[in-house]
Amino acid sequence: MPIAASQAVVAKLTRAAIFLVVRINGGPAADHAVRSLCPDLSALLRAIGFREPEGGLSCVMAFGSDAWDRLFGSPRPRELHPFREIRGVHHAVSTPGDILFHIRAARMDLCFELASQIMARLGDAVTTVDEVHGFKYFDNRDLLGFVDGTENPVDHDAVDAVVIGEEDQAFAGGSYVITQKYLHDLKAWQSVSTEEQENMIGRYKLSDVEQADDVKKPYAHNVLTVIVEDGEELDILRANMPFGEVGKGEFGTYFIGYARSPRRIELMLDAMFIGRPPGNYDRLLDFSRAVTGTLFFVPTVDFLDSVTADPGTPPIDSGGTSPGGSRPAARAGSLGIGSLKNEA
Ligand code: HEM
Repeated sequence: MPIAASQAVVAKLTRAAIFLVVRINGGPAADHAVRSLCPDLSALLRAIGFREPEGGLSCVMAFGSDAWDRLFGSPRPRELHPFREIRGVHHAVSTPGDILFHIRAARMDLCFELASQIMARLGDAVTTVDEVHGFKYFDNRDLLGFVDGTENPVDHDAVDAVVIGEEDQAFAGGSYVITQKYLHDLKAWQSVSTEEQENMIGRYKLSDVEQADDVKKPYAHNVLTVIVEDGEELDILRANMPFGEVGKGEFGTYFIGYARSPRRIELMLDAMFIGRPPGNYDRLLDFSRAVTGTLFFVPTVDFLDSVTADPGTPPIDSGGTSPGGSRPAARAGSLGIGSLKNEA
């Protein structure tokens, strides 16, 4: 069986990103609009990205649990469920969201144009619940002043961390993604000594070098977010971005973590919010409040390509697994301007 192409989950860190979370409005017309966008997304991407090859424009489209049932029904990805709130020492809220668009590029104008085109297509079918424009801050630092992303897996390790394999064959090539929007209390953070900040992160601020094991505090962020099972470290891939509005005093980190199983990220969140052992929580959270929390499934490019505007439209060709177990079908309502796979 041919391997389904994954969306651009394992993309390079970029200077700009837009995180767009929408809810699908009621009624069949809304479903129709969303479904018809799915196979056309890559054509929109090409129409913008091709003009700026250096721009590295990419977009991941992902679906929440309720949206999946509504749009695609059965079969469903094995581990897809709504984001579970955590009430520990701190509170990880669960907030609504049917579709996530994670748009990345070297320049914000590219991200902005793609987001505009997507929203023009969706029109009244959706309501935006959250839109964050992230930027690269100096040497990939977050607004707390620490380099963020250093220990991300790369190359084969990154693929292994995020791409579903045999554990869910019907959805092999897909991924899960969890997002949380954090707002920082920068004033309070800046009143803490650099040494204590370093203890909370587990790395030195200026050099970004990791603290030695006998120096690291048990509550360090990079202690609590390391999950080891059967002697193996369970990696995730993060593409966090700073964002903010200085006039409002808003300084934030948009956390976005991809993984082949959401459980990995949930275990990290438990350790951060409840503590490991309970009470030994992540001190970063004394200065960072999660104001959103959502979980989505990222289907493969082939899956998106095979979505038809109306469920139950009869098939026109015979390749690939497609939504609802049917085959790729005539794309009523689609632009008809190409597939996600750059086919001739
Ligand atoms: C306020 C939000 C957050 C900030 C500012 C933040 C910042 C950082 C920084 C500065 C590092 C060290 C450098 C690096 O390896 O990237 C780091 C590491 C890491 N973070 Fe976060 N993080 C946040 C939230 C989260 C969340 C919610 C998770 C997972 C649920 C997470 C998972 C990780 C992991 C897995 C590492 C690598 C640990 C290692 O292997 O050393 N982070 N984070």
